[in-house]
Amino acid sequence: MKTAEDARRRALRLRAQIEDANYRYYVLDEPSIADAEYDRLLRELEELERAHPELVAPDSPTQRVGARPASEFAEVRHEIPMLSLANAFRDEEVADFVRRIEDTLGVKDPAFSTEPKVDGLAISLRYEDGVFVRGATRGDGTTGEDVTANLRTVRAVPLHLRGHDWPRVLEVRGEVYMPKAAFAAYNAQALKRGEKTLANPRNGAAGSLRQLDPQVTARRPLAFFAYAVGVIDGGTLPPTHSQTLARLREWGFPVSGEIGLAHGLDGLLAYYRRIGARRDALPYEIDGVVYKLDRYDGQRAMGFVARAPRWALAHKFPAQEEMTTVEAIEVQIGRTGAATPVARLAPVPVAGVTVTNATLHNADQVARLDVRVGDTVIVRRAGDVIPEVVRVVPERRPRGTHPWQMPKHCPVCRSELVREEGEAVWRCSGGLYCPAQRKESIRHFASRRALDIEGLGERIVDDLVELGGVESVADLYRLRVDDLLAMKRRAEERDGTVPETVKKGRIASKWAENLIAAIARSKDTTLERFLYALGIPEVGEATAKALARHFGSLDALLAAGEAELTEVPDIGPVVAGCILAFFRERHNRAVIEALRAAGVRWPEHAPRRASAGPLAGKTVVLTGTLGAFTRDEAKERLEALGAKVAGSVSKKTSFVVAGSEAGSKLDKARELGVEIWDEARLQTFLEQHGG
Ligand code: IVH
Repeated sequence: MKTAEDARRRALRLRAQIEDANYRYYVLDEPSIADAEYDRLLRELEELERAHPELVAPDSPTQRVGARPASEFAEVRHEIPMLSLANAFRDEEVADFVRRIEDTLGVKDPAFSTEPKVDGLAISLRYEDGVFVRGATRGDGTTGEDVTANLRTVRAVPLHLRGHDWPRVLEVRGEVYMPKAAFAAYNAQALKRGEKTLANPRNGAAGSLRQLDPQVTARRPLAFFAYAVGVIDGGTLPPTHSQTLARLREWGFPVSGEIGLAHGLDGLLAYYRRIGARRDALPYEIDGVVYKLDRYDGQRAMGFVARAPRWALAHKFPAQEEMTTVEAIEVQIGRTGAATPVARLAPVPVAGVTVTNATLHNADQVARLDVRVGDTVIVRRAGDVIPEVVRVVPERRPRGTHPWQMPKHCPVCRSELVREEGEAVWRCSGGLYCPAQRKESIRHFASRRALDIEGLGERIVDDLVELGGVESVADLYRLRVDDLLAMKRRAEERDGTVPETVKKGRIASKWAENLIAAIARSKDTTLERFLYALGIPEVGEATAKALARHFGSLDALLAAGEAELTEVPDIGPVVAGCILAFFRERHNRAVIEALRAAGVRWPEHAPRRASAGPLAGKTVVLTGTLGAFTRDEAKERLEALGAKVAGSVSKKTSFVVAGSEAGSKLDKARELGVEIWDEARLQTFLEQHGG
């Protein structure tokens, strides 16, 4: 039996461990413990507090989810208003902004904090004596809503501050957002369960915070970035915004790793283009970048117009949502037979790409959105994600439209479309008899990120399956130039086109030779690509990579059971089940063997090899603001060379990269005698090593 004192000590220890895990995960971006371990610690603390209610403190990590739903939100008046930002779309508008600051302050090329404009919801967090006491939405800028109970459920929001040197009253402002992956996972689950999906991550964040029941908010995967301060009392801040952000990070607030420092117009535009190029790869949605004059004295001298500061500017990217009309709704059959309704659209440019098709996901989604042929709809395109229909504009619906229905038969092989109990997806029951499924699996196998067979385009795959006798991906490696030419002749007869193979014999055979050569080249691959290429349900690129790293060889993977599979990071019983089912299938084993026999090969290694590279085994810490790249870019490039990038300096640190205005970490490095690199040295090293 534990004494009260044992319990108290254990509770303190558990809290410290949980808080440390949160800090490492959300602020330093280097998770230190597995999710399961985190949950275990939290459960133990919950049980302990239940047995010893006197131990419960309002800032204990168990107190994130309040029990009682509110009936409405109280109003909060912002002592310092929450401003908005002036927008710019063109470079000239940015030039005007910079010129005005230079002229007013009489300086040339002043320093700006350059930040991603994260697409979420602005909030203000108030801390008194280091403890989180109130959180509010922006509202109209003067008055917002008290959403404290909901914000407490967001684990990236610290319940109390780290360190000691914080002001007695501190208001931190920033953006609550939903990461892209969390948004996609949430919607995939909702679609499966036939529930309402979220239109976009911003609506996801805003809707989640406006839930009256914090239990509902707690189930939404929200995150937070700090980017400004409001009221401070009983303390001071450094003279620049970038130093304040560094301070906020030390106090436990997540700050985007894409934030940097730039000088003058050229620096701002270079940042805009750099982040624009990385927009799709970022784990959260952004709708532009924000420039803020770094020095507070300069900010004060510039002042405000209406509701926006003259010292900051939002430089927006092109919109990702546009309006168009639905010309038809067709059904596409995927690799696994899933029947996906697709809207054929009047062509519309969305963020620089002409969109003509958008997915409607499944029959339930069509019913929920009530999309009909002839409707005007909002389409959305985000990164490489397939464009989707977000909603219908009901005012624009023409007369005489009808609700859409899933057809009874596969449009390709006429097999019945069936839907399993409790599933949202209809599937073609034709299996590999269905040419659509065969074609999709071949297309996937040949795609750029799989075996990358150049020239094996959609049309050729169609012809190979329809006329070339190709039944599985293994048949590709049996093809000869003559087979391709014969296939092409048959296609020409079928289509009644001019027989190129007769008229331009040499050109046609060149095409066939090139394709055969590309197929032959694809034999040299990596295990990771091969596993991805197989098209195992639930195994995308990331999972294929994790499997390849973990097992090192195909045979080790084939021999693995559920227990071994679930040891791989991020593989749970569901994915493990899909992998096992795939390899159990005789047909799949036969295809794999045929591929190996045809000479498809990859380097193998013993299970779980440590990473390689010129920085393998080195631990690096980044501090201060770098000029040429953001912290996240620097981190990525160092990791690509094998380094581990850590958030805090210790004796184990190999070297510290110090940018401008580096603070306590640089002091610590000096104290411990850790090697210190400046940015120039880092750049030279990266250039020399192609990082
Ligand atoms: S600063 C005084 N920084 O954009 C400046 N805002 O259009 C106040 N936002 O309401 C805002 N990322 O919701 C700032 N790095 C960033 C931001 C950011 C996103 C949002 C925020 C704000 C809106 C202004």
